[in-house]
Amino acid sequence: MRPAELEALAAAEAAAAAVRGTTSPNPPVGAAIVDAAGRTVGVGATRPAGGAHAEVMALAEAGEHARGGTAVVTLEPCNHTGHTGPCTHALVDAGIKRVVFARRDPNPVAGGGAEWLRGQGVEVVHPEPDELPAPTLDPWLTAVAAGRPAVTLKFAQTLDGFTAAADGTSRWITGPEARRAVHADRAHRDAIIVGTGTVLADDPRLSARRDDGTEYDHQPRRVVVGTREVPAGHHLAGVCEQYPDIDTALTELWESGARDVLVEGGAGLAAGFVAAGAVDFVQAYLAPKLLGAGHPVLGRPLTETLAGAFEFETTGVRRLGADVLVEGRVARRRRATGENP
Ligand SMILES: NC(=O)c1ccc[n+]([C@@H]2O[C@H](COP(=O)([O-])OP(=O)(O)OC[C@H]3O[C@@H](n4cnc5c(N)ncnc54)[C@H](OP(=O)(O)O)[C@@H]3O)[C@@H](O)[C@H]2O)c1
Repeated sequence: MRPAELEALAAAEAAAAAVRGTTSPNPPVGAAIVDAAGRTVGVGATRPAGGAHAEVMALAEAGEHARGGTAVVTLEPCNHTGHTGPCTHALVDAGIKRVVFARRDPNPVAGGGAEWLRGQGVEVVHPEPDELPAPTLDPWLTAVAAGRPAVTLKFAQTLDGFTAAADGTSRWITGPEARRAVHADRAHRDAIIVGTGTVLADDPRLSARRDDGTEYDHQPRRVVVGTREVPAGHHLAGVCEQYPDIDTALTELWESGARDVLVEGGAGLAAGFVAAGAVDFVQAYLAPKLLGAGHPVLGRPLTETLAGAFEFETTGVRRLGADVLVEGRVARRRRATGENP
């Protein structure tokens, strides 16, 4: 890949990250057009479902500069007609001579774009195996492979692993920078999920808010799992969706288009998601505090022995004021009886 194309990919990825949460069930894709002189002349990202795809947005910005140029896209250009025409045709019509993409489209209907483009004489570059950075697509690709929304489990804990003190106090374990990061993250999710225990204990709002209390443009769906009713007068009463169990919640969310959801606890529901093999990513906000005793992150044991632990591969570590955010993705799921539950 050429240096100008790597720069263009970074611009495409940033554009994709900005629209994440607004495109489901479509993927948050970014695209950039590099002209014959190596300049990025257009950048675009997927519009909300039913709207234009990233390639079309980037081509529109590039205009005539696209002719003879290169399209750098985070996902293989689609090759089918849905709400919009095939992106492959739009690229050829605009005179694009070379296409670089970071992730292959797993959708058998929309896929096949690379082969079609090659057939039109376009040079297509797809470094294998997926070595180009396009992390914004990870949840969507995970969801499509699993046939349910990708689930990120988020929790805040002390260094010794407690989410609340022995007397139940948990506000605030982490500081303002970490809480700001949580709200910004919510603004890029399809849904936030909590258990009825958390609703009854904390009366959360689950909205994505800035420091001054104003709400981000994109608000996630608010989902409660459990059979106990959300009491009238609680912040979530009348504005949340409620499902009796995890399976029903994930099925309904998938069928209504959600692809990227965040589970925010509490301990009982979090353990239920992990035990069900329904956690793909983890976000652990670690506060430099020790309690010695208190409420653990997970409400029940998952294994009796270390070899049975659920393991994550660390994908990022970020300092947020006094706290640290550790992000990971599932490396391996195990039960005492064998592999993946
Ligand atoms: N520090 C943090 O990061 C953090 C985040 C959130 C919450 N919290 C704390 O966690 C506490 C609440 O935790 P919690 O464990 O009592 O409540 P919870 O996990 O919020 O809710 C548990 C409830 O979820 C429902 N549920 C449905 N399927 C389940 C399954 N497979 N496994 C487990 N539960 C399932 C059940 O509801 P039904 O009984 O109604 O059927 C269950 O009683 C609060 O004190 C809150 O402050 C801490």
